[in-house]
Amino acid sequence: MDHFNDQDTLWLFGYGSLIYKADFPYLEKRPASIKNWARRFWQGSHDHRGTPENPGRVVTLIQESEMICHGMAYRITPDELRHLDYREKNGYLRCVTEIAFEGGDSLEGLIYIADHDNAAFLGELPEEAIARQISRASGPSGSNTDYVIELANALRSMNKIDDHVFLIEKYLLE
Ligand code: BEZ
Repeated sequence: MDHFNDQDTLWLFGYGSLIYKADFPYLEKRPASIKNWARRFWQGSHDHRGTPENPGRVVTLIQESEMICHGMAYRITPDELRHLDYREKNGYLRCVTEIAFEGGDSLEGLIYIADHDNAAFLGELPEEAIARQISRASGPSGSNTDYVIELANALRSMNKIDDHVFLIEKYLLE
Protein backbone atom coordinates (compact mmCIF):
# COMPACT_ATOMS: atom_id res chain seq x y z
CA MET A 1 0.00 0.00 0.00
CA ASP A 2 2.84 2.41 0.74
CA HIS A 3 5.18 1.37 -2.07
CA PHE A 4 5.07 4.76 -3.82
CA ASN A 5 4.87 6.93 -0.70
CA ASP A 6 8.20 8.60 -1.35
CA GLN A 7 7.16 9.62 -4.90
CA ASP A 8 5.20 12.74 -5.91
CA THR A 9 3.66 10.87 -8.82
CA LEU A 10 3.31 7.28 -9.97
CA TRP A 11 2.17 5.40 -13.06
CA LEU A 12 -1.05 3.41 -13.06
CA PHE A 13 -1.61 0.88 -15.86
CA GLY A 14 -5.19 0.68 -17.14
CA TYR A 15 -6.27 -2.45 -19.01
CA GLY A 16 -10.08 -2.31 -18.81
CA SER A 17 -12.40 0.68 -18.92
CA LEU A 18 -9.50 2.86 -17.79
CA ILE A 19 -8.12 2.58 -21.31
CA TYR A 20 -10.96 4.65 -22.74
CA LYS A 21 -12.47 6.36 -19.70
CA ALA A 22 -10.17 7.90 -17.13
CA ASP A 23 -12.54 9.75 -14.83
CA PHE A 24 -9.80 11.04 -12.55
CA PRO A 25 -7.20 13.77 -12.92
CA TYR A 26 -3.91 12.67 -14.42
CA LEU A 27 -0.73 14.45 -15.45
CA GLU A 28 0.17 12.39 -18.49
CA LYS A 29 -1.05 9.33 -20.37
CA ARG A 30 0.94 6.91 -22.52
CA PRO A 31 0.16 3.67 -24.38
CA ALA A 32 1.98 0.88 -22.57
CA SER A 33 2.07 -2.85 -21.91
CA ILE A 34 2.85 -5.27 -19.14
CA LYS A 35 4.55 -8.64 -19.64
CA ASN A 36 3.58 -12.00 -18.10
CA TRP A 37 0.00 -10.85 -17.53
CA ALA A 38 -3.14 -11.82 -19.49
CA ARG A 39 -6.38 -9.79 -19.50
CA ARG A 40 -9.30 -12.09 -18.69
CA PHE A 41 -13.05 -11.66 -18.14
CA TRP A 42 -12.85 -13.74 -14.99
CA GLN A 43 -13.99 -11.25 -12.36
CA GLY A 44 -17.67 -11.03 -11.42
CA SER A 45 -19.39 -7.65 -11.33
CA HIS A 46 -22.46 -7.25 -9.18
CA ASP A 47 -22.02 -3.51 -8.60
CA HIS A 48 -21.04 -2.03 -12.01
CA ARG A 49 -21.99 -4.23 -14.97
CA GLY A 50 -24.32 -6.64 -13.25
CA THR A 51 -26.38 -7.12 -10.12
CA PRO A 52 -26.08 -9.51 -7.16
CA GLU A 53 -28.84 -11.66 -8.73
CA ASN A 54 -27.32 -11.51 -12.20
CA PRO A 55 -23.60 -10.72 -12.03
CA GLY A 56 -21.74 -9.61 -15.11
CA ARG A 57 -18.09 -10.16 -15.91
CA VAL A 58 -15.29 -7.61 -16.05
CA VAL A 59 -11.59 -7.92 -16.66
CA THR A 60 -8.83 -8.83 -14.28
CA LEU A 61 -5.21 -9.78 -14.87
CA ILE A 62 -3.93 -13.34 -14.59
CA GLN A 63 -0.24 -14.15 -14.40
CA GLU A 64 0.72 -16.00 -17.56
CA SER A 65 4.26 -16.44 -18.72
CA GLU A 66 5.26 -14.47 -21.84
CA MET A 67 1.78 -12.96 -22.35
CA ILE A 68 1.67 -9.23 -23.10
CA CYS A 69 -1.27 -7.11 -22.02
CA HIS A 70 -1.64 -3.79 -23.84
CA GLY A 71 -3.29 -0.79 -22.23
CA MET A 72 -2.90 2.82 -21.22
CA ALA A 73 -0.70 4.13 -18.41
CA TYR A 74 -1.55 7.29 -16.46
CA ARG A 75 0.77 9.37 -14.32
CA ILE A 76 -1.16 10.32 -11.22
CA THR A 77 -0.58 11.69 -7.74
CA PRO A 78 -0.86 9.19 -4.85
CA ASP A 79 -3.99 11.08 -3.69
CA GLU A 80 -5.90 9.63 -6.64
CA LEU A 81 -5.42 6.11 -5.28
CA ARG A 82 -7.96 6.70 -2.54
CA HIS A 83 -10.65 7.44 -5.13
CA LEU A 84 -9.58 4.47 -7.27
CA ASP A 85 -9.41 2.10 -4.29
CA TYR A 86 -13.02 2.98 -3.51
CA ARG A 87 -14.21 2.65 -7.10
CA GLU A 88 -12.54 -0.73 -7.51
CA LYS A 89 -13.66 -1.99 -4.11
CA ASN A 90 -15.28 -5.13 -5.53
CA GLY A 91 -12.27 -7.41 -4.98
CA TYR A 92 -9.41 -5.52 -6.64
CA LEU A 93 -6.06 -5.04 -4.93
CA ARG A 94 -3.06 -2.94 -5.86
CA CYS A 95 -0.03 -4.75 -7.23
CA VAL A 96 3.34 -3.41 -8.36
CA THR A 97 4.65 -4.46 -11.79
CA GLU A 98 6.95 -3.31 -14.56
CA ILE A 99 5.22 -1.08 -17.14
CA ALA A 100 6.78 -0.85 -20.61
CA PHE A 101 5.86 2.30 -22.51
CA GLU A 102 5.55 2.46 -26.28
CA GLY A 103 8.83 4.02 -27.20
CA GLY A 104 10.97 1.66 -25.18
CA ASP A 105 11.37 3.01 -21.64
CA SER A 106 9.94 1.19 -18.66
CA LEU A 107 9.48 1.60 -14.93
CA GLU A 108 7.69 0.16 -11.91
CA GLY A 109 4.04 1.09 -11.66
CA LEU A 110 0.73 0.00 -10.29
CA ILE A 111 -2.01 -2.34 -11.49
CA TYR A 112 -5.28 -3.32 -9.87
CA ILE A 113 -5.88 -7.06 -9.94
CA ALA A 114 -8.69 -9.26 -8.66
CA ASP A 115 -7.25 -12.69 -7.90
CA HIS A 116 -8.87 -16.07 -7.40
CA ASP A 117 -9.40 -15.71 -3.65
CA ASN A 118 -11.66 -12.64 -3.80
CA ALA A 119 -15.36 -13.31 -3.25
CA ALA A 120 -16.42 -11.99 -6.66
CA PHE A 121 -13.93 -14.07 -8.67
CA LEU A 122 -15.74 -16.26 -11.22
CA GLY A 123 -12.76 -17.78 -13.02
CA GLU A 124 -12.18 -19.44 -16.35
CA LEU A 125 -14.90 -20.44 -18.79
CA PRO A 126 -14.86 -20.86 -22.56
CA GLU A 127 -15.28 -17.48 -24.30
CA GLU A 128 -18.69 -18.48 -25.69
CA ALA A 129 -20.04 -19.15 -22.18
CA ILE A 130 -18.52 -15.90 -20.92
CA ALA A 131 -20.25 -14.04 -23.76
CA ARG A 132 -23.57 -15.70 -22.91
CA GLN A 133 -23.33 -14.53 -19.31
CA ILE A 134 -22.26 -11.02 -20.36
CA SER A 135 -25.12 -10.74 -22.86
CA ARG A 136 -27.64 -11.09 -20.02
CA ALA A 137 -26.03 -8.71 -17.54
CA SER A 138 -26.31 -5.02 -16.89
CA GLY A 139 -25.87 -2.85 -13.82
CA PRO A 140 -25.57 0.74 -12.56
CA SER A 141 -22.64 1.46 -14.94
CA GLY A 142 -24.50 0.15 -17.99
CA SER A 143 -24.76 -2.98 -20.04
CA ASN A 144 -22.03 -5.59 -19.76
CA THR A 145 -22.08 -6.02 -23.55
CA ASP A 146 -21.30 -2.31 -24.04
CA TYR A 147 -18.32 -2.68 -21.70
CA VAL A 148 -16.86 -5.44 -23.92
CA ILE A 149 -17.52 -3.55 -27.15
CA GLU A 150 -16.05 -0.30 -25.83
CA LEU A 151 -12.96 -2.14 -24.62
CA ALA A 152 -12.54 -3.95 -27.96
CA ASN A 153 -12.97 -0.64 -29.85
CA ALA A 154 -10.43 1.07 -27.61
CA LEU A 155 -7.88 -1.71 -28.26
CA ARG A 156 -8.51 -1.54 -32.01
CA SER A 157 -8.07 2.23 -31.98
CA MET A 158 -4.63 1.62 -30.43
CA ASN A 159 -3.90 -1.06 -33.08
CA LYS A 160 -3.70 -3.73 -30.41
CA ILE A 161 -4.99 -7.30 -30.57
CA ASP A 162 -6.41 -9.27 -27.66
CA ASP A 163 -7.74 -12.65 -28.81
CA HIS A 164 -9.74 -13.23 -25.60
CA VAL A 165 -11.52 -9.87 -25.77
CA PHE A 166 -12.11 -10.04 -29.52
CA LEU A 167 -13.52 -13.58 -29.36
CA ILE A 168 -16.00 -12.62 -26.62
CA GLU A 169 -16.97 -9.55 -28.68
CA LYS A 170 -17.49 -11.77 -31.74
CA TYR A 171 -19.86 -14.08 -29.84
CA LEU A 172 -21.74 -11.09 -28.44
CA LEU A 173 -22.20 -9.59 -31.91
CA GLU A 174 -23.47 -12.93 -33.21
C1 BEZ B 1 -8.85 -0.89 -15.62
O1 BEZ B 1 -9.75 -0.49 -16.29
O2 BEZ B 1 -7.72 -0.88 -16.02
C2 BEZ B 1 -9.11 -1.42 -14.27
C3 BEZ B 1 -9.65 -2.66 -14.16
C4 BEZ B 1 -9.91 -3.15 -12.92
C5 BEZ B 1 -9.64 -2.41 -11.79
C6 BEZ B 1 -9.07 -1.17 -11.92
C7 BEZ B 1 -8.80 -0.69 -13.17
